[in-house]
Amino acid sequence: MKLIVCENYEEMSKAGADIIAALLKSKPKCVLGLATGSTPVGMYQELARMNKAGEITFKDVTSYNLDEYYPLAPDHDQSYRYFMNHNLFDNVDIDKSKTHVPDGLAADPDAMGKAYDEAIEAAGGIDLQVLGLGPNGHIAFNEPEAELYAGTHKTSLTESTINANARFFASKADVPTHAVTMGIGSIMKARKIIVLANGKVKHPVIEKMLAGRITTMCPGTLLLAHADVTLIVDKAAYEG
Ligand code: GLP
Repeated sequence: MKLIVCENYEEMSKAGADIIAALLKSKPKCVLGLATGSTPVGMYQELARMNKAGEITFKDVTSYNLDEYYPLAPDHDQSYRYFMNHNLFDNVDIDKSKTHVPDGLAADPDAMGKAYDEAIEAAGGIDLQVLGLGPNGHIAFNEPEAELYAGTHKTSLTESTINANARFFASKADVPTHAVTMGIGSIMKARKIIVLANGKVKHPVIEKMLAGRITTMCPGTLLLAHADVTLIVDKAAYEG
C-alpha cells in the first residue's frame, strides 16, 4: 500500500484529484468507482475546477457508485444519487446516463445487486475506485462483522454509522437503518484504489491499516490484500 501524507484537507483533495485526472488523460473512456461522504467533496470540487478549466473531460467516463441508503428515493436530498449530482455530476461534462448508483428502492435487492456487479463487469471493470473510511473502519457500507459479503447486497447499518451519519439528516430517527452496497469482492476487483481520510476521527482506522494485519472487524484493512492501493491522508488522520 502506498501512503501519501498531506498537510491538510485541501492538499489531500488535490492529491486525489490529480490521480483521477491522470487516469482521465491516459484513458478517457475509463470506468470510475465513486464514493460519497464529506471526505471526497473537496476532491470533487477540484475535479470540477479542472474540468471547467479544460484540463480534463468526463464525457466518455462511466461511473458506478459504491452504495445507497435503503429505502431511499433518488430525489431525496440525503440520497447518494442526489449527493453525486450535486457534488460532481452537475458540475462536470459527464453524461449522466453513464452514471450509476445502486437502486435504493429495489424491490428485490439481491437481484439488483447481482445485476449491478454484472453491469460493472460488462463495462470492463472499474479502473479506479475512490473510497472513504467510516470511523469504525467500514468501506462503502461494509460494516465490521465476522463475515462480509463479496457482491453488492442489502445490509443493515451499525449504531455507530447511524450516529456518524445523523449529522446530515433532520434527526437520528430519519437516518435509514439499511443500505445497498457494493461488497468487498466488487471493490477489490477494481484495478486501482485510492482511499481518502482526513481528521482525527479517522486516526484509529488509519493506525489499524498501517499495522499490516487484516480483519473483517475493520473492513478497511482488507485493502491491504489489494495490489494497487494508495492511501491519501491528512496529518490529523495520520498522527491523531
Ligand atoms: C458513509 C459512506 C462511506 C463513507 C463514509 C465516511 O457511511 N457509506 O462510503 O466512506 O460515510 O464518511 P465521511 O467521509 O463523511 O467521513
